[in-house]
Amino acid sequence: MRKILLKNAQNGMRLAKSIYTEDGFILLAAGVELKQTYINRLEACNILEIYVEDEFSKDIVIEDVINDETRRQAKILIKNIMEQCKKTSQFDYGQVNSMVNQIIDDLLENKDILVNLSDIRTVDNYTFAHSVNVCVLSLITGMKLGLNQLKLRDLGIGVLLHDIGKILIPEEILKKPSQLTDDEFEEIKKHTILGYEMLKNTPNISASSAYIALGHHERYDGTGYPLQKKGENIHLFARIVAIADVYDALTSDRVYRKKLKIHEVIEYIVTLGRQQFDTTVMQCFIKNIAIYPVGTGVVLSTGEKGIIVDVNRDLPTRPVVRIIYNDDGTKNNIFKEIDLTKKLNIMIVDTIEI
Ligand SMILES: [Fe+2]
Repeated sequence: MRKILLKNAQNGMRLAKSIYTEDGFILLAAGVELKQTYINRLEACNILEIYVEDEFSKDIVIEDVINDETRRQAKILIKNIMEQCKKTSQFDYGQVNSMVNQIIDDLLENKDILVNLSDIRTVDNYTFAHSVNVCVLSLITGMKLGLNQLKLRDLGIGVLLHDIGKILIPEEILKKPSQLTDDEFEEIKKHTILGYEMLKNTPNISASSAYIALGHHERYDGTGYPLQKKGENIHLFARIVAIADVYDALTSDRVYRKKLKIHEVIEYIVTLGRQQFDTTVMQCFIKNIAIYPVGTGVVLSTGEKGIIVDVNRDLPTRPVVRIIYNDDGTKNNIFKEIDLTKKLNIMIVDTIEI
């Protein structure tokens, strides 16, 4: 299977992963043959990408570090908690705790897989999907840093709820499609303090979990908010979440900008990282990311175009590529594969939609 933009979907392609509404109901089930009416319906639901199976990709398996069902349940839980909190400022701690345990179990089972977050998002469900992704990315980084089970649980709980303060920020500011004014940005910044206040008053939530809401926009060099804390004065959990949060935000489509490519985001994080992030945490974070995930279309320095069919964990910029188009643009009938760890003179120059 491979991921394509919905606008490039064609009649007759087979859907490879089910698509759900933000309430967790199936919109279109895996295995269905696409028809124009289905494509229109997905478009109306603001779905931008889908997974399909076609002649280039039918034997390609895309593995994710958590199960689709765990992810679906986690998104519904965050949505319910945010709705519940809006009404009562309270939520069921036990449900969050079990969800985080489930996510940790999935991650432990899939320890050898590089992160290829295979979530399909709509622009509307950004906060729920984002909270789950940031949780997964932070937990994997925490595992690489050697945190014990209890700390991982506290980290996971805090990350799932890190943006809960947003329920108290006016929607017209949160969803504004154009640049924020200074006053509006000041308003958004308050989600850190508001979220922290809410969590620290919730029974059973540890102080370090609650602190993530307060500290996840602080930056290592003191340029963050709300308290402009610096270096090790920022709790380790918040230093982890800061990187995961930026990574997931930049690799997602937002109302005001298109997502960036993974290799561009990694470069951005490494460049910024020297000042804004904790370097040790950043290195652990990057080691887990599939820079060119399985199923991605790429252009090689030879001019050939193909799809990633396998990644090399130790050399993430040198995966295995199945060549679909020759350098003159003609299509191959028999696909050859190039392992870039064995062809060091060939480089990936860009990612494309094939
Ligand atoms: Fe935030």
